[in-house]
Amino acid sequence: MSEKLELVYEGKAKKLFQTENPNILWVEYLGQATALNGKKKDIIEGKGELNNKITSTIFERLHEKGIQTHFIKQISESEQLIEKMEMIPLEVVVRNIAAGSFTRRLAVEEGSVLPFPIVEFYYKEDALDDPFINDDHVKALNIATSEEIELLKKSALAINQALITIFKEINIRLVDFKLEFGKNVNGEIVLADEVSPDTCRLWDATTNERLDKDIYRKDLGDILPIYDEVLKRFESTK
Ligand code: C5P
Repeated sequence: MSEKLELVYEGKAKKLFQTENPNILWVEYLGQATALNGKKKDIIEGKGELNNKITSTIFERLHEKGIQTHFIKQISESEQLIEKMEMIPLEVVVRNIAAGSFTRRLAVEEGSVLPFPIVEFYYKEDALDDPFINDDHVKALNIATSEEIELLKKSALAINQALITIFKEINIRLVDFKLEFGKNVNGEIVLADEVSPDTCRLWDATTNERLDKDIYRKDLGDILPIYDEVLKRFESTK
């Protein structure tokens, strides 16, 4: 059994602790919701447990499909063990259907199916509000090399295909999502962070009901029953 040692990082939704193994971190998912880069913030008891369980399930299903992630195992309702990574400061967004900032920026109608999945990079820097950047910016800022950029895009698209299938099994359309990658001790680029209704836009495939954080962002209601619905659908396909 691993031991929970000192706090090494505290983010908006998770706390990371060192364990006795230098390559393994202990993650605690928090009952906190934020939007607008932390400007909107609320304590939502139970959200940490739901996101921990949903992310654990998704990472397990990605592993079954041959996709490597930092996830080791879920260890409690709100905690999991992960491989320690040197994080790449990028938010890699993949879009299948127009929504969110894409519709606002480009005046494309929400719900339009894109002709192919679009990959975008955002520089993960709270002080700058995570600005949209292109490949040249990523290279010029020494965030990643050309080869690494290609690998990030290829991985993001492969993960997209796997996630589309995983969500289709629970009658959900994967509209868009955000990924974060890190380098493990062997220098391999691996999927890290979380994949949950906080980081994906998920629409019911039959009714288009929103099953994700947009409910919180747009003050459309309580997110707990919505996230619980996503978890129940996963549990029904175990
Ligand atoms: O807001 P935008 O349309 O650019 O978001 C695209 C996708 O990335 C959405 O699924 C959203 O949940 C996710 N995202 C995120 N964290 C951010 C920004 C976006 O998980 N900081």
